[in-house]
Parts: sequence; C-alpha cells; structure tokens
Amino acid sequence: MDAISDQRARLGDAAKKFISQPKKLLIDGLWVEAASGKTFAVIDPATNKEVGRVAEGDKADVDKAAKAARRAFESGEWPSLRPMQRERLLHKLADLVEANADELAQLESLDNGKPVMMARHGDVVMTAEFLRYMAGWATKIEGSTIDVSLSYVPQGQFFAYTRKEPVGVCGQIIPWNFPLLMAAWKIGPALAAGCTVVLKPAEQTPLTALRLGELAMEAGFPKGVVNVITGFGPTAGGALVEHPEVDKIAFTGSTEIGKLIGVNAMKNLKRVSLELGGKSPVVVMADADLEQAIPGAAMAIYFNQGQVCTAGSRLFVERKVFDKVTEGIAAFAKQMKVGPGLDPSTQVGPLVSQEQQERVLRYIQSGFSEGAKALAGGKKVGATGCFVEPTIFVDVKPDMKMVREEIFGPVVCAQAIDDVSQIPAMANDTIYGLGASVWSTNLNFVHRLIPKIKAGTVWVNGHNLLDPALPFGGYKNSGIGREMGRAVFDLYTETKSVCMTV
Ligand code: NAI
Ligand code: MG
Repeated sequence: MDAISDQRARLGDAAKKFISQPKKLLIDGLWVEAASGKTFAVIDPATNKEVGRVAEGDKADVDKAAKAARRAFESGEWPSLRPMQRERLLHKLADLVEANADELAQLESLDNGKPVMMARHGDVVMTAEFLRYMAGWATKIEGSTIDVSLSYVPQGQFFAYTRKEPVGVCGQIIPWNFPLLMAAWKIGPALAAGCTVVLKPAEQTPLTALRLGELAMEAGFPKGVVNVITGFGPTAGGALVEHPEVDKIAFTGSTEIGKLIGVNAMKNLKRVSLELGGKSPVVVMADADLEQAIPGAAMAIYFNQGQVCTAGSRLFVERKVFDKVTEGIAAFAKQMKVGPGLDPSTQVGPLVSQEQQERVLRYIQSGFSEGAKALAGGKKVGATGCFVEPTIFVDVKPDMKMVREEIFGPVVCAQAIDDVSQIPAMANDTIYGLGASVWSTNLNFVHRLIPKIKAGTVWVNGHNLLDPALPFGGYKNSGIGREMGRAVFDLYTETKSVCMTV
C-alpha cells in the first residue's frame, strides 16, 4: 500500500467547502458554538491527520437542545402538521441526500475511513431509501377501535379506541461505523411519528450528521425539531440520558455502554431502545453452493472492515468442506485491496481510529498467544493510518477470548462442525444474539434450524441483507427493541386508550 499524507486533495469541491467551514451545533434551528467554546479534532484514519474541528457540546448545550426540542414538540408548527406534511418533509430530506450523495460519501469516507464506493453505493443510497420508507409510515400509523364489555356497568354503551401518539423528545446516540445511515435510522422513524430529536453522533465521526442537520434545515423541518449535538459520550451523551425533558433514548453502540444507558434511563423511566454488540455466527453446510458461500462468508466479516454489529465473526463449517472454505476465504482476504478510503479502487479502508486499530490488534495477538493460526492477515498494514489486514483464524477453540468477545474488526474465527446436531448449541454459544447466517441448499434442514437460533435476524444464503421493511434488533445482550419495519413505531409512539360512554 502506498502511504499518502493528506487525503483532502481527493475531495470534490462541495466536500472541500464543508470541511473548510466552522462546524457548530444545531440547536433550535441555529448553528451555534458550544457554550464552553471548546472544539475537538476530526481525524482522518487513513493518515492519522486532523482534517478539521467540530464544536464540543456538553451538558449546557444538551440542555438548550432538549428544551428547544421540547418547545418544538409541544407548540408551534410541528405538532400541527398533518401526517402527509411530515411525509413530504422526509421525502424532501431524502431528495437532498440524493442530490448531495457524492459529497456525503466523500465526507463519510474521510471521517470513518470506509471505501468511498461503499459509502456512495451503500451508506448514502440506503440512507435515502430508508428515509423514503419511513416517510411512507407517517400516514400509516394507526390505532384501533376495540369492542369493550365493561359488564360491571350494566346500562352502558361504549366507544373505545386507541391512539398512537408520538413519544416526545428523543435523545438519539449513535456509533461511528455507519455514521450517516445510523443518523437516518434514528431520526427517520422519530420524525415520521411526530417526535422531535436531539441527535448525538459518535465523536469519531461527526461530519455527515452535521451535514444531515443542514439538509434537514434546508428541507424545511421547523426549528427545534432536529437538533444535532457533537461531543463525547460521558458528557454530551450522558447529559442526554439524564435530561428530564428527554422522553426517550435510542442508542446504538457497545453492549457495555448500552447497559449503562439502560440503567440510567430507567432512573426516570425514559423509554429506551438499545441496538448493541454482536458475535454473529455464519454456518456453512457441506451441501452449500460454495462458489456463493465462500465470498459470502468473507464479505460477512470483511465488509466495512468488520465494523458491523452483525459482522459474521464466528464461522462454523462442516468438517468435509472446512479446508476448502477456510482456504477460499483466506485467498479472498489476500486479494482484497487495502488502502485509503477516498481511493476509488480501495476495498478495505482503515479502521475508524487508532484506538480501534489497537483494540483489534490486541485481539489478534490474543488469538496467536492462545494457539490459533492465521490463514490470512494477522498484522497491521503500513506505518501510518489505522489499517489492519483482513484476517482468518483456524485452530480455534470456543473458549478463546477472540471467539467470545466482539472484536469489531476484520477478523473471523473458524471452527469445524463434526456433529450437525450441535449446530444450534455452537451458534448460540455467545452472550449476543443479533444476526446469523446459514449457507445450505437443504431447505428442510434450514427451516428446522432457524427456530433454534437465538438471533434477531437469520439470513439464508446471504449475510447483512438489511431492508428498511424488516425489523432489526437483538436477542440477549444484543439489545432491546426492534428498529425498522412497522415494529419501530412501537419505540416512537405511546398508546393511548380512549373509552367513552355513549
Ligand atoms: P461506545 O458504545 O462507547 O459509543 C457509541 C456511542 O455512545 C457514541 O456516540 C459515544 O459517544 C456514546 N457514549 C459513550 N459513552 C457514553 C455514555 N457514558 N453515555 C452516553 N453516551 C455514551 O462505543 P465505542 O467506544 O466507540 O466502541 C467500543 C466498542 O464498542 C467497539 O470496539 C465495538 O466492539 C463496540 N461497538 C459496537 C457497535 C455496534 O453497532 N454494535 C457500534 C460501535 C461500537
Ligand atoms: Mg466507548
């Protein structure tokens, strides 16, 4: 890999312009500096260089934003908009995402490290599609009429129904792996339901959430409906979780912080939904179409440098095809082009930060010292930048640290299946339960296996097939609640029962 010193020259004019402007907080429709006046650095993980600074919001700024979101929720234009007008605003936002797609993809690549082509054709396209899907729900959230008995009121006649009302002010805390898409996943359903939001992007990747905030203003969302506070977890994020004006917290990130947030949100009974870590199994049967399964299992882990909550990080392969599959994945890994994200030919970019690179390298080291063998990868790449080779380990035991814990990097651990009846136990041997995939041509077997896998999503002959219409979320330590699809509106509405004597 050729070292580069500054990727900014690769940006288009629009992204260059955005980078060169001061990046402030969006509170009540205005861009303002942090009350403290502090800023923090945006680092390009391909070069470890600072590429800009953003405002460092903390408790004082969160307070202003939460109060603005409260005002916007209770009074003014937003609560009186018709559902179709909310739908229209979300479509407008999706249009603007599409109109600025190249800029958003470049900013995402610069900030997160991911290959720009992935950002452009994955993250940005999915962001617009997701917003459109959620726009459609604004007009379709409905309660029901219920025929009540109330037999202890002998003479009465009744009319009873339920209303689905927006839950209120939503504090939304998101991670760095899909910064723009995560922002849309959070604000889309909240706005469709009529809520207002205070969004806190991850400190590693604030840029596209700020740009999305600008686009939300341009789309015409009333002031205070969308607020964006950049800042750190314990300060800005913590203040959001504690704030009395915030009715609901939606969090995506680590299980460790998710548990903390869940406990803190419960102290004043905020609604809370959590999308947390994973250690998703990929099960490859001997009868699978291996031409499909080998690249499929490779991309299940190497996509987005393995920084995916549903990354297929535990691979189970039937013994008779174990060598063929693991060697196939190793060959796939070795031919992947590692490089800076803004180079359009890059397939594997840097990890998001030096901290994450070190974390992943520590897991790789633990694998070696516990006796596993790398068929491919196992090292960092280059002297600068947060690059790690796509890695596959064999000679793996189920109790190894790297098999048990979420690595969040391009590292897969392969184990052989000797007894097919043990597959559910092997797949479920984890505290997590987010995703799983099964690769097989035997549909009877697959359908018998699916109910036994404790995971929020099971893919068959595919992995990471996400769609806005499909509920997404975790069993066990992978979280609480289902985002996407109809299910997400359980998270963003309160049900009000109305019972009338007539
Ligand atoms: P994290 O869970 O600390 O950060 C996620 C978000 O939570 C960020 O916006 C952060 O600022 C915020 N946050 C952190 N501490 C907080 C607090 N006390 N109160 C409120 N908000 C807080 O994740 P981090 O440290 O970036 O990554 C560590 C590991 O977590 C990764 O290596 C990976 O294993 C896992 N992770 C999992 C993700 C997933 O989607 N499943 C996403 C990001 C990280
Ligand atoms: Mg953290």
